Amino acid sequence: MHEEFPTKTPAVVTCGLPYANGDLHVGHLRTYVSGDAYARALDTLGQSVAFVCGSDMHGTPIAVNAAKEGVSPEAFALEYHEQYTETFPKFNVEFDNYGHTHDETNTELTRAFVREWIDDDHVFEKEIEVAWDAETDQPLPDRFVEGTCPYCGEHARGDECDEGCQRHLEPGEIEDPVSTITGNPAEYRTRAHKFLRLSDFQAYLKGFLDRLEGTENAKNQPREWIEGELQDLCITRDMEWGIDYPGEGEDDLVLYVWVDAPIEYVASTKQYSERVGATEYDWEAVWKNHGDETVPDGGEIVHIIGHDIIQHHTVFWPAMLRGADYNEPRAVMACGFVNLAGKAFSTSRNRAVWADDYVEAGLAPDLYRYHIITGSEFVADVDFSWNGLQETVNNDLVGTLGNFCYRSLLFAQRNYGGTPDAEVSDEVRERIETATEAFGEAVNDYRVRGLGNAPVELAKFGNEYIQRHEPWNLLDDEPETAAQVIRDCVQIAKALAVLMGPVLPGKAAALWEQLGEAGSVHDAELDAALAAPPAAFEEPSELFERIEDERVDALNEQLEARVDAATEADVEADAADDDAEAGSALEPIADERISFEAFQELDLRVGEILAAEPIEGADDLARLNVDIGVENRQIVAGIKQLHDLGSLAGTRVIVVANLEKAELFGVESDGMVLAAGEGADLLTTHEDSEPGTKVR
Ligand code: 2FM
Ligand code: ZN
Repeated sequence: MHEEFPTKTPAVVTCGLPYANGDLHVGHLRTYVSGDAYARALDTLGQSVAFVCGSDMHGTPIAVNAAKEGVSPEAFALEYHEQYTETFPKFNVEFDNYGHTHDETNTELTRAFVREWIDDDHVFEKEIEVAWDAETDQPLPDRFVEGTCPYCGEHARGDECDEGCQRHLEPGEIEDPVSTITGNPAEYRTRAHKFLRLSDFQAYLKGFLDRLEGTENAKNQPREWIEGELQDLCITRDMEWGIDYPGEGEDDLVLYVWVDAPIEYVASTKQYSERVGATEYDWEAVWKNHGDETVPDGGEIVHIIGHDIIQHHTVFWPAMLRGADYNEPRAVMACGFVNLAGKAFSTSRNRAVWADDYVEAGLAPDLYRYHIITGSEFVADVDFSWNGLQETVNNDLVGTLGNFCYRSLLFAQRNYGGTPDAEVSDEVRERIETATEAFGEAVNDYRVRGLGNAPVELAKFGNEYIQRHEPWNLLDDEPETAAQVIRDCVQIAKALAVLMGPVLPGKAAALWEQLGEAGSVHDAELDAALAAPPAAFEEPSELFERIEDERVDALNEQLEARVDAATEADVEADAADDDAEAGSALEPIADERISFEAFQELDLRVGEILAAEPIEGADDLARLNVDIGVENRQIVAGIKQLHDLGSLAGTRVIVVANLEKAELFGVESDGMVLAAGEGADLLTTHEDSEPGTKVR
């Protein structure tokens, strides 16, 4: 069990490094705005925290694309690196340090890590069969080869089954390999490579996963992967672009990109520490192991990533850290993908809202941040569309948050010149305390969405409060009550500024200024929510602007026109690439309608999970014991890796009670539990209807 945030030890929040390999679109930005919001929220709790990242400069896709453009991989990657350093601040993503994997700090640190592994005998050499292009007489590392995933049979590229089970693939594992250089079937040649002996860390990793915090997907999925004997990790590649393997006489080998990429988390923190000084922030206190041989300790390391790279962060990376006597991650938070208006992004069809498109549309970065952070739970896929953005902005930000702040502060300023001279009522004090507690819980439960919801929920209360008291009708007859109500409202506005800080940092700063507060809202901690606001402030202005239909129509037309242009330019050749784009399309609604009578044939009941346990040997299945009022049912559900089974007892679910019985993995399943989407989000009841209640 880890101590709750804020802790005495410093924290570091990292985001998965973007490959310096192409323009960023609003889908890529989800991880970075979420990481930025989470790091800011820790800061608001009073936690000492650094927020770091960097560009991922190595790997075959970059070498391949640079070759296509006739430039060196370094020049190619550096250009994107520069572009990213300019793009992130446009979305209010403010890293304390943003380095890159090819810089000196990371190169040195990576080589030092590998030397440690060698010295501690965790590295060995083995001859393996690597894919080879006979025509060009060259090895085919990673993305130079395509074929079939040996685990799930889907089409796979290089080191990752990106269209199927998302497993990491070792060199030589891909079946029916084809060279991406010539399109010829690849041959195999024997080559000597270096391996990190992951089996040395098998017992350690079991303990690590028991300690790991973060999102359920990151905590549960790796359990499966470490059950059998761990496959050793090939840490070298036959390439020129990368960090040279540090051993003697191995001039032709570079390190695999997934060796030096996560080490950049450490290198970037080190650069930050060196810039501000170790008394302000000590990278070694965070990253080095201050625990014992079996349980590392140090600062609080939180990784924020896309869910396609869970294995790298919960199996390979902790083993790499352990092998060099470094601390271990405290939490891994893995988010879902982003879709664009219900379908996957397609960069080859130019069906994307690029970061620059958003900036050029002149919309404040906070609007995107709020929309993407509150659009779904962090672990689930989320949709971005101009219409969706309009709806969220007009309802939550203009209609609720902005409306409350503007009407309250305008009334306060016009009638009292600022904050009326009165005490905050108990009701409002308690409501603000509830909001700040919810904020603290969201941080400690790793729920980024909760950080966006906290201010809007409080503003809803504010609107209801002002409406209930109608201070405009009290000014003449009950001036003290009017002053009291407005005093409360100004306090709520101040609490809102503090709570908005992580997800809506630009707007929070504007509100803070409107309140006449000195300094930056980003230096304020949670207790500032209840500190008295300045007595005087200027007339406020509206924090948010409605997004009108015409604007959305124009933005949609612009997107469609671009897609049409790209389609005309014949992108069929790239279609295969599209299928591999992150994010899955929403399925179309079924063409055929069913009658109401047909629907009534389903006997849907409210159930309560009494117990949930994994079915041994089955990858995804869990055995549920569900009370459906009239009886208890044993139901098999494919949720093993997606939920913390231990915490499901007591959850209300919806059960198809008259489904014919089935046998799954030798276990009888008597009914079905309804769940939504890839993440098997369990359907539950809003008001806790009793087990057995019919669902209509
Ligand atoms: O999958 C990716 O996009 C990688 N560039 C992420 C690297 S994260 C890490 F480990 F540094
Ligand atoms: Zn697969």
